[in-house]
Formats: sequence, structure tokens, C-alpha cells
Amino acid sequence: MPISAPEPLLNIAGLFSGYGKIRVLHGIDMTVRESEVVALLGPNGAGKTTLLRAVSGLLPWAGNVRFAGRDLKGLHPRDAVKAGLAHVIEGHRVFRQLTVLDNLLLGAYDLPRADRLARVEEVLDLFPEIAAKRLERAVSLSGGQQQILAVAQGLVRRPRLLMLDEPSAGLSPVLVDRVLEVVRRLRAAGTAVLLVEQLIEKALAVSDRVYALARGSIALEAGTAEPDLPQRLEAAYLATARPAAFEHGAG
Ligand SMILES: Nc1ncnc2c1ncn2[C@@H]1O[C@H](COP(=O)(O)OP(=O)(O)O)[C@@H](O)[C@H]1O
Ligand SMILES: [Mg+2]
Repeated sequence: MPISAPEPLLNIAGLFSGYGKIRVLHGIDMTVRESEVVALLGPNGAGKTTLLRAVSGLLPWAGNVRFAGRDLKGLHPRDAVKAGLAHVIEGHRVFRQLTVLDNLLLGAYDLPRADRLARVEEVLDLFPEIAAKRLERAVSLSGGQQQILAVAQGLVRRPRLLMLDEPSAGLSPVLVDRVLEVVRRLRAAGTAVLLVEQLIEKALAVSDRVYALARGSIALEAGTAEPDLPQRLEAAYLATARPAAFEHGAG
């Protein structure tokens, strides 16, 4: 890397986090550069969601996290959003009694009204399946369409980094491909994406680099073009599948 390489958009170093006395993340180092799509893979319970929550300020953490040149320590989640960090949480959460349009307008509540409408139209152009239902309540959408709406809501502010937590969960194959196609287009347009996914091959196909998380530690970091990646990923996953009996007495 040349000495003049700019600081990564997201720069995580020695990150620890968890829930009260339950420690989940044990010193995570990770970067996401401008316009880069990074896949974050790992088995259930590895700590992927916890990592996204910590970065966006929804959980207390220790260590160093910098985003867009600023220290995120102590920053309110709202201010991280303002700095360009969008987090689409697990499990298509939308306001079910509000219309599609109002859900999207809420995503940009603090922008001037004219900008809000323009941003909403921009995002609806990406997702014809919900554009056609803009005046319907979210509750009338399918689960997959609600997930699309949640992703769209994250995009309304034109974030610099979009963190997606299992966006394909519960989606039909057609909608999964639609979401991943949007990830590709975002990358082309200069938006960085941190993508947590269970569909490993699909995630790798749209990503530049990949991290595998195993029991709260990074087990693998690689470029997705590296030829031995499938074997290394498999090893990273297998490393986590030790029998529970071995867990006793650890720590
Ligand atoms: N609210 C919570 N309180 C206590 N422990 C939690 C909570 N949420 C998750 N955990 C634990 O943290 C670990 C990591 O969970 P999570 O980050 O959701 O994993 P992943 O997203 O990789 O499936 C798991 O052992 C899980 O049981
Ligand atoms: Mg999760």
C-alpha cells in the first residue's frame, strides 16, 4: 500500500463489545474503504450483528472506531447517521401502519422537504416492486417487499457506508438478486457497503473483500478474487464448529 493511501472510510481497531458481562467481540480489526463492498460472514452467533450494533453506537464498546475521518467514540447513533453511516438492522423492520412513502420520508426526516421528496423518488427508482405500492401501508407488503423497503429507507440519506444485516433473509430468490444488484449499483456509484450475509456465494459475488467472524474474532480476511478462498473460508467456519464440550473451562 502506498504511503499516501487515504484513511479507510471505516477503520475499526481492537474493538471489544458485548451485552453487560457477556463479552461477544474480542478485539476486532476491520476496514472498509470508499466505494468498497465488504462481506462479513460467519456462523450464527459469531457476533456479526453485535459488530454492526457497536459500530453504529447502539451498544457500548471499547477500542477504536473511526468513520469518515472522525472518531465514533461517544457519538450518538443519530450523529453517526448524519455523518453518512446507515445501518439496516436485521429482520425487515419498517413502520407497518405507515405507507411506503411515509416510511421513506421518515428515513430523511431532517432534510429540507424538497430534498426529501427528490431522495425518495431516487430510491424508489431502484425498487419498482415497492414503487408501485408507494401509497399502500407497509403491513400490506410481503415480507420480502418489507425488507426491500428497509433497505430503501437506509438509502434515502445517500449514505457513504451502508451496513446491511442479512438483507436476503426471508426473501424470494428474485428479491435476493434484486437486493444484491442494488449493492452492485451502489458500489458503482461510490457508496461503500458492509454486507452481513448467510448466502456466502451470493455475497462473495458482489464483494471486493471478505471477513469471516468466528466466536467474536476475525478468523479470515481475504480478497474475494483469491483462488483458495473457498477452502480458507471452509476452514474458518470449521474452526468454529468445535464440540461444546471443549468450551468448558475456557476463560
Ligand atoms: N441482547 C443480547 N443479550 C445477550 N446476549 C446476546 C444478545 N444478542 C446476542 N447475544 C449473544 O451474542 C452472540 C453474538 O450474537 P450475534 O451478534 O447476534 O451473532 P450473529 O449476528 O453473528 O448471528 C451470541 O452468542 C448471542 O447469543
Ligand atoms: Mg445476526
